[in-house]
Amino acid sequence: MAEQSSDSIARIKATMMQDDGTKHIFVVMGASGDLAKKKIYPTLWWLYKDGLLPKNTTIVGYARSVLTITDLRKKCEPFMKLKDETPDNLKKVDPFFSANRYVKGSYTEDSAFEQLNSVLESLEGGDPCNRLFYLALPPSVFKPVTSHIKSSCMGKKGWTRVIVEKPFGRDLQSSNELSEHLGGLYTEDQLYRIDHYLGKEMVQNLLILRFGNRIFGPIWNRDSIASVMISFKEPFGTQGRGGYFDDFGIIRDVMQNHLLQVLCLAAMEKPATTNAEDIRNEKVKVLKTIEALELKDVVLGQYVGDPDGEGDAKEGYLEDPTVPRGSVTPTYAMAVFRIKNERWDGVPFILRCGKALNERKAEVRIQFNDVPGDIFGGGTKRNELVVRVQPNEAVYCKMMTKSPGMSFNPEETELDLTYGSRYKGLKMPDAYERLILDVFCGSQIHFVRSDELREAWRIFTPLLHKIENEKPKPIEYKYGSRGPVEADELAKAHNFTFTGTYKWKNPNL
Ligand code: NDP
Ligand code: BG6
Repeated sequence: MAEQSSDSIARIKATMMQDDGTKHIFVVMGASGDLAKKKIYPTLWWLYKDGLLPKNTTIVGYARSVLTITDLRKKCEPFMKLKDETPDNLKKVDPFFSANRYVKGSYTEDSAFEQLNSVLESLEGGDPCNRLFYLALPPSVFKPVTSHIKSSCMGKKGWTRVIVEKPFGRDLQSSNELSEHLGGLYTEDQLYRIDHYLGKEMVQNLLILRFGNRIFGPIWNRDSIASVMISFKEPFGTQGRGGYFDDFGIIRDVMQNHLLQVLCLAAMEKPATTNAEDIRNEKVKVLKTIEALELKDVVLGQYVGDPDGEGDAKEGYLEDPTVPRGSVTPTYAMAVFRIKNERWDGVPFILRCGKALNERKAEVRIQFNDVPGDIFGGGTKRNELVVRVQPNEAVYCKMMTKSPGMSFNPEETELDLTYGSRYKGLKMPDAYERLILDVFCGSQIHFVRSDELREAWRIFTPLLHKIENEKPKPIEYKYGSRGPVEADELAKAHNFTFTGTYKWKNPNL
């Protein structure tokens, strides 16, 4: 099953709910780690309790630590949101963990993987069985683990799929090396490179909003759009994760993957179909037309403590004990991308991301050109279409209306699709739930292909190397602020206009 349209996925998901008897084994490589306990096991639990895991699924944890299933359960339960569960669902926790096994073993020895394989074979009992391997592991062991899975643990009577988490290298060269390594072992349809932003509701919605509405198609180009701003903001700092973060910085952590993927979906041409390959071909095409970034295109920042702030806010990045002293790693970045194609030439795509800012927010903001020949004495403001990814999913379009009543003045207002109001009580699946289910179904629409990765690194590598070599000092910004004012200036210089006149009235208050 190399390629599925979204329609056939819906059908596969429906089939999965029925018990067709096929066995599945989901192997969590790195089961003792942070990602496993915080994300992978909880996600498998949510799918299980909602009846979305194929019925005959066994979960096998694999790591170097000595662990029992009881230990594993203790580690994972705090992240499974059990206090929100109905009594009926709580009864499913025991059977969920009964479907779990744990195997202790190294990541580098043949014999350990042969032993893992014999456990998998004994669970299969000679029946047809599909195997999924989730690499919840540090990148240092990606290569030996994927080699050993290939040599010792491939399914004999069913498919084998391998799910890989970022970082996929740290520059073009290391990413290419990893891709060549993986490509030498597996076919592209066996590899699932996760970017969890592709599992978010509103990121997936970009395709439907753009290509399922006639109103947007004709204006989605340089004739009508002034600039596009794609933002990721987090209101907390590195929180003891500074060691990992410092080695990567915000550009590698968020911009090169999550935000660039969102840019692709906002900027790509219409794919021929909703098949994974057609969509990914369009993403690669748009990436190929983006110029490599230069230092003049970016503003880099690093947060400092706010003496008047509360709790963590008092502590700057450099005061995090896990951060090397004197580090110049950026915790904030804004970069201006230029897409050199017929649709977008001259339209700046401004990507910004930062930690320890004033709020949690991820959004796409399309700013339209000023109305030409304004007859309202400068009273008209730019239209903006905002797709808010999180928190509180929404699509809203800022527009002008006649100020209601006796006056004849233009006034800013909005067309507002707030999911919490329109789809009351709807529980949105977590990004990992959708993506793991997609792997079971064989759908690669929301996974990153190796050529996308290559193009992404091509755009960022010269800049990242320059930053590493020249070590420019990032601009300080206060914990809890909107980031460096220099970023606002860069955005302004690239046709992003902020007037400060728009005031939203929440209709629910
Ligand atoms: P604003 O006019 O407040 O902000 C527009 C943009 O300008 C944002 O990208 C903002 O980014 C940026 N900005 C803010 N201050 C400055 C500044 N001093 N200089 C330069 N840029 C600046 O409009 P919003 O669309 O953000 O809406 C305002 C509020 O109303 C938001 O909280 C929004 O969530 C809410 N709203 C909610 C709706 C809903 O729930 N459906 C619908 C409409 C609005 P930055 O992130 O940096 O502040
Ligand atoms: C991860 C980054 O990929 O995404 C983190 O490594 C970041 O630094 C996280 O906090 C944000 O994800 P989300 O889903 O909370 O927006």
